Amino acid sequence: MKVENKQAYRLLYPRLTVLVSSGSGDERDVMTVAWSTPISFNPSLIGVSISPKRYSYGVIENTQKFAINIPTQEIAEETFFIGQKSGRDIDKFERTDLTPKSGETGVTIIEECYANIECELVDKPVYGDHTLFIGKVKNAEVKEDALKDNNFPDPKTGMLYWMSSGNEEGYLSFRNSQ
Ligand SMILES: Cc1cc2nc3c(=O)[nH]c(=O)nc-3n(C[C@H](O)[C@H](O)[C@H](O)COP(=O)(O)O)c2cc1C
Repeated sequence: MKVENKQAYRLLYPRLTVLVSSGSGDERDVMTVAWSTPISFNPSLIGVSISPKRYSYGVIENTQKFAINIPTQEIAEETFFIGQKSGRDIDKFERTDLTPKSGETGVTIIEECYANIECELVDKPVYGDHTLFIGKVKNAEVKEDALKDNNFPDPKTGMLYWMSSGNEEGYLSFRNSQ
């Protein structure tokens, strides 16, 4: 069957869902992102596609850094909340009890996530209604028991996958990777 061109992106779902944190100290933010992608092995580049409507957008532009934090099912509710509320209105770290800490590069990272990837912004091409923030990896850490022998994450870690457009189905549409 045919799929409308504008709905073709849905064929790429479900998508690993991450938390993109930015800023430092009290000038920080965090948002939920389903549109992230590796871009290059060498140099090590990763992209996150962000709408200019997000508060995080300006924080990343101003600080030139962001971090990709990978959550698990234990914080599925918080991950959904973070994708619903804006840092323009509330401090999402205070409201969720997630623990912000300073990564090696000074950018805010999230303690409860099993992996954190700190990136320096190297480019931000605008494509249609989103901007691809391209980050060069400066530091990456993972909780040891989250990796299998081949250094890929163990699905038992319970990473989150998103299967919805917008917010209509809530966090119930996260699929447990186990
Ligand atoms: C599961 C999920 C995935 C999302 N993925 C993206 C995304 O890839 N890019 C984006 O710009 N917004 C995405 N959003 C929306 C933002 O997370 C949301 O608008 C958030 O409130 C922005 O926060 P901020 O204004 O503090 O930056 C997603 C939301 C959810 C719930």
